[in-house]
Amino acid sequence: MGLIPDGQIITEMNRINPGKPKMAVDIGGLVIKNPVMTASGTFGYGEEYAPYLDLNRLGAIIVKGISMEPRAGNPPPRIMETPCGMLNAIGLENPGVNAFVNDKLPFLRQFDVAVVINIYGETIDEFKKVAEILSAAKGIHGLEINISCPNVRRGGMVFGSDPDMAHEVTKEVKRSTDLPVIVKLTPNVTDICLIAKSVEEAGADAVSLINTLTGMSVDIEKRTPHLRNITGGLSGPAIKPVALRMVWQVAKKVKIPVIGIGGIMNARDALEFLIVGARAIQIGTANFINPHAAIDIIDGIEDYLARNICPDINELTGTLNTEQGSDLKQCD
Ligand SMILES: Cc1cc2nc3c(=O)[nH]c(=O)nc-3n(C[C@H](O)[C@H](O)[C@H](O)COP(=O)(O)O)c2cc1C
Repeated sequence: MGLIPDGQIITEMNRINPGKPKMAVDIGGLVIKNPVMTASGTFGYGEEYAPYLDLNRLGAIIVKGISMEPRAGNPPPRIMETPCGMLNAIGLENPGVNAFVNDKLPFLRQFDVAVVINIYGETIDEFKKVAEILSAAKGIHGLEINISCPNVRRGGMVFGSDPDMAHEVTKEVKRSTDLPVIVKLTPNVTDICLIAKSVEEAGADAVSLINTLTGMSVDIEKRTPHLRNITGGLSGPAIKPVALRMVWQVAKKVKIPVIGIGGIMNARDALEFLIVGARAIQIGTANFINPHAAIDIIDGIEDYLARNICPDINELTGTLNTEQGSDLKQCD
Protein backbone atom coordinates (compact mmCIF):
# COMPACT_ATOMS: atom_id res chain seq x y z
CA MET A 1 0.00 0.00 0.00
CA GLY A 2 1.23 3.51 -0.64
CA LEU A 3 4.12 4.83 -2.61
CA ILE A 4 4.38 2.38 -5.47
CA PRO A 5 5.64 4.01 -8.62
CA ASP A 6 4.21 1.94 -11.45
CA GLY A 7 0.93 0.42 -12.52
CA GLN A 8 2.05 -3.18 -11.86
CA ILE A 9 0.82 -3.16 -8.31
CA ILE A 10 -2.68 -2.39 -9.52
CA THR A 11 -2.62 -5.53 -11.63
CA GLU A 12 -1.43 -7.43 -8.54
CA MET A 13 -4.11 -5.95 -6.29
CA ASN A 14 -6.80 -6.56 -8.86
CA ARG A 15 -5.70 -10.20 -9.21
CA ILE A 16 -6.62 -10.85 -5.57
CA ASN A 17 -10.31 -11.19 -6.55
CA PRO A 18 -10.10 -12.52 -10.13
CA GLY A 19 -13.87 -12.86 -10.67
CA LYS A 20 -14.77 -9.43 -9.32
CA PRO A 21 -14.50 -6.08 -11.10
CA LYS A 22 -11.07 -4.50 -10.62
CA MET A 23 -11.33 -1.62 -8.20
CA ALA A 24 -7.73 -0.47 -7.52
CA VAL A 25 -6.71 2.99 -8.73
CA ASP A 26 -3.46 4.94 -8.90
CA ILE A 27 -3.76 8.51 -7.69
CA GLY A 28 -0.48 10.06 -8.78
CA GLY A 29 1.63 7.33 -7.15
CA LEU A 30 -0.77 6.68 -4.29
CA VAL A 31 -2.12 3.24 -5.11
CA ILE A 32 -5.34 2.38 -3.30
CA LYS A 33 -7.50 -0.76 -3.31
CA ASN A 34 -10.66 1.08 -4.39
CA PRO A 35 -11.53 4.68 -5.34
CA VAL A 36 -13.54 5.54 -2.20
CA MET A 37 -11.96 7.88 0.35
CA THR A 38 -13.44 9.65 3.35
CA ALA A 39 -13.35 13.46 3.11
CA SER A 40 -11.35 15.54 5.56
CA GLY A 41 -13.27 16.89 8.55
CA THR A 42 -16.15 14.44 8.22
CA PHE A 43 -14.46 11.26 9.47
CA GLY A 44 -12.45 12.49 12.47
CA TYR A 45 -9.17 10.58 12.73
CA GLY A 46 -10.73 7.25 11.71
CA GLU A 47 -11.06 5.97 15.28
CA GLU A 48 -14.45 7.67 15.77
CA TYR A 49 -15.93 5.60 12.91
CA ALA A 50 -14.21 2.27 13.64
CA PRO A 51 -17.23 0.91 15.60
CA TYR A 52 -19.46 1.40 12.54
CA LEU A 53 -17.46 0.03 9.62
CA ASP A 54 -14.37 -1.99 8.72
CA LEU A 55 -11.72 0.67 8.02
CA ASN A 56 -9.69 -1.94 6.07
CA ARG A 57 -12.28 -1.84 3.29
CA LEU A 58 -11.81 1.86 2.50
CA GLY A 59 -9.63 3.10 -0.34
CA ALA A 60 -8.20 5.81 1.89
CA ILE A 61 -8.93 7.74 5.06
CA ILE A 62 -8.32 11.48 4.88
CA VAL A 63 -8.12 12.94 8.36
CA LYS A 64 -9.26 16.33 9.68
CA GLY A 65 -6.96 19.22 8.65
CA ILE A 66 -3.74 19.38 10.68
CA SER A 67 -1.75 22.56 11.38
CA MET A 68 1.60 23.15 13.09
CA GLU A 69 0.13 24.31 16.43
CA PRO A 70 -3.12 23.19 18.07
CA ARG A 71 -6.17 25.25 16.99
CA ALA A 72 -9.38 25.72 18.99
CA GLY A 73 -11.39 26.58 15.86
CA ASN A 74 -14.23 29.10 15.80
CA PRO A 75 -16.66 29.67 18.70
CA PRO A 76 -20.12 27.99 18.45
CA PRO A 77 -22.65 27.83 16.97
CA ARG A 78 -20.61 26.53 14.07
CA ILE A 79 -22.94 24.00 12.38
CA MET A 80 -26.32 24.72 10.81
CA GLU A 81 -28.59 22.43 8.82
CA THR A 82 -29.86 23.82 5.48
CA PRO A 83 -32.22 22.42 2.81
CA CYS A 84 -30.32 19.43 1.35
CA GLY A 85 -27.09 20.27 3.11
CA MET A 86 -25.29 21.84 6.03
CA LEU A 87 -23.23 24.91 6.79
CA ASN A 88 -20.12 24.58 8.93
CA ALA A 89 -17.63 27.07 10.28
CA ILE A 90 -15.45 24.80 12.40
CA GLY A 91 -12.33 26.87 11.70
CA LEU A 92 -9.90 23.95 11.47
CA GLU A 93 -9.93 22.80 15.09
CA ASN A 94 -7.15 20.25 15.55
CA PRO A 95 -4.56 19.11 18.12
CA GLY A 96 -1.49 20.22 16.08
CA VAL A 97 0.86 18.06 14.08
CA ASN A 98 2.99 16.68 16.93
CA ALA A 99 -0.01 15.59 19.02
CA PHE A 100 -1.53 14.07 15.88
CA VAL A 101 1.59 11.98 15.21
CA ASN A 102 1.87 10.85 18.86
CA ASP A 103 -1.79 10.35 19.79
CA LYS A 104 -3.85 9.72 16.64
CA LEU A 105 -1.56 8.12 14.07
CA PRO A 106 -0.73 4.92 16.06
CA PHE A 107 -4.41 3.87 15.88
CA LEU A 108 -4.49 4.28 12.10
CA ARG A 109 -1.29 2.25 11.62
CA GLN A 110 -3.12 -0.93 12.66
CA PHE A 111 -5.16 -0.95 9.47
CA ASP A 112 -4.46 -1.94 5.88
CA VAL A 113 -5.74 1.35 4.49
CA ALA A 114 -4.02 4.33 2.91
CA VAL A 115 -3.81 7.26 5.33
CA VAL A 116 -3.79 10.73 3.79
CA ILE A 117 -3.23 13.79 5.94
CA ASN A 118 -5.05 17.01 5.09
CA ILE A 119 -2.65 19.84 5.98
CA TYR A 120 -3.22 23.51 6.64
CA GLY A 121 -0.92 26.49 7.17
CA GLU A 122 -1.37 30.22 7.62
CA THR A 123 1.92 30.72 5.76
CA ILE A 124 3.87 28.75 3.17
CA ASP A 125 6.49 28.12 5.82
CA GLU A 126 3.90 26.50 8.10
CA PHE A 127 2.71 24.26 5.26
CA LYS A 128 6.33 23.18 4.69
CA LYS A 129 7.01 22.45 8.36
CA VAL A 130 3.84 20.37 8.76
CA ALA A 131 4.68 18.45 5.56
CA GLU A 132 8.23 17.76 6.79
CA ILE A 133 7.10 16.44 10.18
CA LEU A 134 4.45 14.19 8.63
CA SER A 135 6.87 12.87 6.01
CA ALA A 136 9.20 11.67 8.76
CA ALA A 137 6.38 9.78 10.52
CA LYS A 138 5.56 6.13 9.74
CA GLY A 139 2.20 5.07 8.34
CA ILE A 140 1.32 8.05 6.16
CA HIS A 141 0.72 7.46 2.46
CA GLY A 142 -0.07 10.92 1.10
CA LEU A 143 -0.74 14.58 1.87
CA GLU A 144 -3.72 16.66 0.83
CA ILE A 145 -3.00 20.41 0.87
CA ASN A 146 -6.02 22.37 2.04
CA ILE A 147 -5.84 25.72 0.25
CA SER A 148 -9.61 25.90 0.16
CA CYS A 149 -11.01 26.37 3.68
CA PRO A 150 -13.59 29.19 3.69
CA ASN A 151 -13.68 29.47 7.51
CA VAL A 152 -10.28 30.90 8.43
CA ARG A 153 -8.89 34.43 8.12
CA ARG A 154 -5.39 33.51 6.99
CA GLY A 155 -4.20 30.77 4.64
CA GLY A 156 -7.11 28.70 3.30
CA MET A 157 -8.91 30.26 0.38
CA VAL A 158 -6.43 33.15 0.26
CA PHE A 159 -3.93 30.67 -1.23
CA GLY A 160 -6.53 28.68 -3.11
CA SER A 161 -8.11 31.55 -5.01
CA ASP A 162 -4.90 32.99 -6.44
CA PRO A 163 -3.18 30.91 -9.14
CA ASP A 164 0.31 32.24 -8.27
CA MET A 165 -0.04 31.62 -4.54
CA ALA A 166 -1.57 28.19 -5.14
CA HIS A 167 1.43 27.41 -7.37
CA GLU A 168 3.91 28.58 -4.74
CA VAL A 169 2.41 26.57 -1.86
CA THR A 170 2.27 23.44 -4.01
CA LYS A 171 5.85 23.83 -5.20
CA GLU A 172 7.18 24.35 -1.66
CA VAL A 173 5.22 21.44 -0.17
CA LYS A 174 6.44 19.18 -3.00
CA ARG A 175 10.01 20.18 -2.10
CA SER A 176 9.39 19.24 1.53
CA THR A 177 8.10 15.71 1.02
CA ASP A 178 8.45 12.49 -0.97
CA LEU A 179 4.81 11.59 -0.36
CA PRO A 180 2.23 12.01 -3.14
CA VAL A 181 0.68 15.47 -2.86
CA ILE A 182 -3.01 16.11 -3.60
CA VAL A 183 -4.09 19.76 -3.77
CA LYS A 184 -7.65 20.44 -2.59
CA LEU A 185 -9.37 23.20 -4.53
CA THR A 186 -12.03 25.71 -3.60
CA PRO A 187 -15.17 26.24 -5.72
CA ASN A 188 -15.30 29.89 -4.55
CA VAL A 189 -13.39 31.19 -7.59
CA THR A 190 -14.27 32.44 -11.05
CA ASP A 191 -12.26 29.80 -12.92
CA ILE A 192 -11.32 26.65 -11.00
CA CYS A 193 -9.48 25.29 -14.08
CA LEU A 194 -6.97 28.11 -13.82
CA ILE A 195 -6.05 27.10 -10.26
CA ALA A 196 -5.98 23.40 -11.21
CA LYS A 197 -3.57 24.07 -14.10
CA SER A 198 -1.40 26.22 -11.89
CA VAL A 199 -0.96 23.53 -9.19
CA GLU A 200 -0.42 20.86 -11.83
CA GLU A 201 2.45 22.92 -13.26
CA ALA A 202 3.85 23.30 -9.72
CA GLY A 203 4.10 19.49 -9.42
CA ALA A 204 0.85 18.42 -7.73
CA ASP A 205 0.33 14.67 -8.08
CA ALA A 206 -3.48 15.02 -8.05
CA VAL A 207 -6.21 17.55 -7.36
CA SER A 208 -9.31 17.05 -5.21
CA LEU A 209 -12.43 19.17 -5.58
CA ILE A 210 -14.58 20.67 -4.28
CA ASN A 211 -14.27 22.05 -0.77
CA THR A 212 -17.39 23.80 0.57
CA LEU A 213 -19.19 26.75 -1.05
CA THR A 214 -19.36 29.88 1.09
CA GLY A 215 -22.88 30.51 2.39
CA MET A 216 -24.92 31.89 5.28
CA SER A 217 -28.20 31.51 7.14
CA VAL A 218 -30.22 34.03 9.21
CA ASP A 219 -32.45 33.71 12.30
CA ILE A 220 -35.31 36.04 11.33
CA GLU A 221 -36.67 36.41 14.90
CA LYS A 222 -33.37 37.63 16.29
CA ARG A 223 -32.15 39.05 12.95
CA THR A 224 -28.78 37.45 13.60
CA PRO A 225 -26.72 34.96 11.60
CA HIS A 226 -27.16 31.36 12.72
CA LEU A 227 -23.39 30.87 12.68
CA ARG A 228 -21.21 32.84 15.07
CA ASN A 229 -18.70 33.20 12.21
CA ILE A 230 -21.58 34.71 10.14
CA THR A 231 -20.61 32.73 7.03
CA GLY A 232 -19.80 29.05 6.68
CA GLY A 233 -19.11 26.35 4.11
CA LEU A 234 -22.05 24.63 2.43
CA SER A 235 -21.77 20.88 1.86
CA GLY A 236 -24.05 17.92 1.14
CA PRO A 237 -26.45 17.06 -1.71
CA ALA A 238 -27.16 20.76 -2.40
CA ILE A 239 -23.67 21.23 -3.86
CA LYS A 240 -23.46 18.05 -5.95
CA PRO A 241 -24.43 19.55 -9.34
CA VAL A 242 -21.87 22.35 -8.90
CA ALA A 243 -19.16 19.90 -7.83
CA LEU A 244 -19.93 17.57 -10.73
CA ARG A 245 -19.71 20.40 -13.26
CA MET A 246 -16.36 21.54 -11.84
CA VAL A 247 -14.89 18.02 -11.78
CA TRP A 248 -15.95 17.55 -15.41
CA GLN A 249 -14.32 20.85 -16.43
CA VAL A 250 -11.08 20.26 -14.50
CA ALA A 251 -10.74 16.64 -15.67
CA LYS A 252 -10.70 17.88 -19.25
CA LYS A 253 -8.00 20.45 -18.47
CA VAL A 254 -5.39 18.57 -16.41
CA LYS A 255 -3.46 15.34 -16.94
CA ILE A 256 -3.07 14.49 -13.25
CA PRO A 257 -5.82 12.46 -11.54
CA VAL A 258 -8.88 14.31 -10.28
CA ILE A 259 -10.66 13.29 -7.07
CA GLY A 260 -14.36 14.22 -6.99
CA ILE A 261 -15.99 15.55 -3.81
CA GLY A 262 -19.32 17.21 -3.08
CA GLY A 263 -22.68 15.84 -2.01
CA ILE A 264 -21.91 12.19 -2.75
CA MET A 265 -24.54 10.29 -0.75
CA ASN A 266 -24.72 6.93 -2.53
CA ALA A 267 -23.14 4.82 -5.28
CA ARG A 268 -25.17 6.52 -8.03
CA ASP A 269 -23.71 9.91 -7.04
CA ALA A 270 -20.20 8.43 -6.90
CA LEU A 271 -20.59 6.87 -10.34
CA GLU A 272 -21.63 10.22 -11.83
CA PHE A 273 -18.32 11.70 -10.67
CA LEU A 274 -16.31 8.79 -12.09
CA ILE A 275 -18.12 9.02 -15.43
CA VAL A 276 -17.38 12.75 -15.78
CA GLY A 277 -13.69 12.10 -15.21
CA ALA A 278 -12.85 11.53 -11.52
CA ARG A 279 -10.34 8.73 -10.76
CA ALA A 280 -11.52 8.54 -7.16
CA ILE A 281 -14.11 10.16 -4.92
CA GLN A 282 -14.43 11.36 -1.34
CA ILE A 283 -17.43 10.93 0.96
CA GLY A 284 -18.09 13.86 3.32
CA THR A 285 -21.44 14.95 4.77
CA ALA A 286 -22.94 11.51 4.01
CA ASN A 287 -20.83 10.09 6.90
CA PHE A 288 -22.86 12.16 9.37
CA ILE A 289 -26.14 10.68 8.12
CA ASN A 290 -25.00 7.12 7.53
CA PRO A 291 -21.64 6.22 9.10
CA HIS A 292 -21.55 3.12 6.86
CA ALA A 293 -22.03 5.21 3.68
CA ALA A 294 -18.50 4.71 2.30
CA ILE A 295 -18.81 0.89 2.43
CA ASP A 296 -22.30 0.97 0.86
CA ILE A 297 -20.82 3.09 -1.94
CA ILE A 298 -17.92 0.66 -2.55
CA ASP A 299 -20.41 -2.23 -2.77
CA GLY A 300 -22.72 -0.22 -5.05
CA ILE A 301 -19.89 0.66 -7.45
CA GLU A 302 -18.82 -3.00 -7.61
CA ASP A 303 -22.41 -4.06 -8.37
CA TYR A 304 -22.68 -1.47 -11.13
CA LEU A 305 -19.41 -2.61 -12.75
CA ALA A 306 -20.55 -6.24 -12.63
CA ARG A 307 -23.99 -5.39 -14.08
CA ASN A 308 -22.44 -3.35 -16.90
CA ILE A 309 -19.76 -5.96 -17.61
CA CYS A 310 -17.06 -3.39 -16.95
CA PRO A 311 -14.07 -5.40 -15.67
CA ASP A 312 -12.00 -2.48 -14.38
CA ILE A 313 -13.07 0.74 -12.66
CA ASN A 314 -10.36 2.64 -14.55
CA GLU A 315 -12.24 1.98 -17.81
CA LEU A 316 -15.26 3.86 -16.50
CA THR A 317 -13.46 7.11 -15.73
CA GLY A 318 -14.22 9.88 -18.23
CA THR A 319 -16.67 7.88 -20.33
CA LEU A 320 -19.30 10.64 -20.37
CA ASN A 321 -21.03 10.76 -23.73
CA THR A 322 -22.00 14.35 -24.49
CA GLU A 323 -23.27 13.70 -28.01
CA GLN A 324 -27.03 13.72 -27.65
CA GLY A 325 -28.73 10.83 -29.36
CA SER A 326 -25.59 8.85 -30.14
CA ASP A 327 -25.03 5.31 -28.89
CA LEU A 328 -23.99 4.79 -25.28
CA LYS A 329 -20.21 4.65 -25.01
CA GLN A 330 -19.25 1.24 -23.65
CA CYS A 331 -16.40 0.38 -21.35
CA ASP A 332 -13.78 -1.37 -23.43
C1 LIG B 1 -17.81 19.66 9.41
C2 LIG B 1 -16.87 19.72 8.23
C3 LIG B 1 -15.50 19.88 8.45
C4 LIG B 1 -14.62 19.96 7.35
N1 LIG B 1 -13.26 20.08 7.58
C5 LIG B 1 -12.41 20.10 6.52
C6 LIG B 1 -11.00 20.18 6.74
O1 LIG B 1 -10.49 20.17 7.87
N2 LIG B 1 -10.19 20.23 5.63
C7 LIG B 1 -10.70 20.19 4.36
O2 LIG B 1 -9.92 20.25 3.39
N3 LIG B 1 -12.02 20.09 4.13
C8 LIG B 1 -12.89 20.05 5.18
N4 LIG B 1 -14.23 19.93 4.95
C9 LIG B 1 -14.74 19.85 3.57
C10 LIG B 1 -15.04 18.40 3.14
O3 LIG B 1 -13.88 17.60 3.19
C11 LIG B 1 -15.65 18.35 1.72
O4 LIG B 1 -14.75 18.90 0.80
C12 LIG B 1 -16.97 19.10 1.64
O5 LIG B 1 -17.75 18.90 2.79
C13 LIG B 1 -17.80 18.73 0.40
O6 LIG B 1 -18.12 17.35 0.40
P1 LIG B 1 -19.54 16.77 0.95
O7 LIG B 1 -20.61 17.57 0.28
O8 LIG B 1 -19.53 15.33 0.56
O9 LIG B 1 -19.54 16.97 2.43
C14 LIG B 1 -15.13 19.87 6.03
C15 LIG B 1 -16.51 19.69 5.83
C16 LIG B 1 -17.38 19.61 6.91
C17 LIG B 1 -18.85 19.40 6.65
